[in-house]
Amino acid sequence: MKSEKLNEALPCHVGIIMDGNGRWAAKRGITRTGGHTEGLKTARRIVETASNRGIRYLTLFVFSTENWKRAALEVDFIMSLVKQHLVRELDFYRKNNLRIRHTGDVTGLAPDIIAEIDEARADTKDFNGMQVILALNYGGRDAIIRAARRFLLQPLNNSCAEAASALNEDELSRNMDNPDVPDPDLIIRTAGEFRTSNFLLWEAAYAEYFITDKFWPDFSTEDFDAALAAYAARERRFGANAKIGAGRR
Ligand code: FPP
Repeated sequence: MKSEKLNEALPCHVGIIMDGNGRWAAKRGITRTGGHTEGLKTARRIVETASNRGIRYLTLFVFSTENWKRAALEVDFIMSLVKQHLVRELDFYRKNNLRIRHTGDVTGLAPDIIAEIDEARADTKDFNGMQVILALNYGGRDAIIRAARRFLLQPLNNSCAEAASALNEDELSRNMDNPDVPDPDLIIRTAGEFRTSNFLLWEAAYAEYFITDKFWPDFSTEDFDAALAAYAARERRFGANAKIGAGRR
């Protein structure tokens, strides 16, 4: 996919796996929901920071297709935080010219959450500042399967053989949730785990990873800047053997 990037040292699209709310809370002897409340404050702060730094797209991993396995109380609480954020912070998005989008399977979400997402999306659709993509009921494998289904359901695919020969990387990319959004350049993961956790599996093929031990509620503007600095120092080759440049596609 094409990059909109003007400055090669700055990632155009940053994805964040906001991990460690539960551990942050446990360390303080408070409930996991208390950790998520702090996590939401961090998310709000980092959205502002990323926009101020000139990031064009920010994907936040809010709730995965696997997170439904958690206790109902925690799931309901996270969903209520999402709703609260979309209602209370809409003015902040408007004032800062930020566009809200969603990735994930909407069909698995409660109608009231879908309604808030739809309203926020519609309200901010013409803003040309940073795009904030909320990954909610999102799984990387699920996203690929949904894209493959969209491809197969196109009317031009008359036979399995025709569909099979027409399927290629560009076609699958075109059928992802937000095909106009460029692939992530940088993925930040907090709380020290070295795994992808099913986040942007298709799109992150050549993303740079930055992993910090900080729990998400403790992740600061300085930490975000440290991730950007680490990214700027990376040599991206995209499979070639000569330097192509930091952030260049
Ligand atoms: C991981 O911590 C975090 C989550 C499951 C998502 C919660 C995210 C938020 C509350 C921020 C929402 C942001 C927006 C913009 C709506 P964890 O519970 O997996 O932590 P642990 O691994 O330490 O248990």
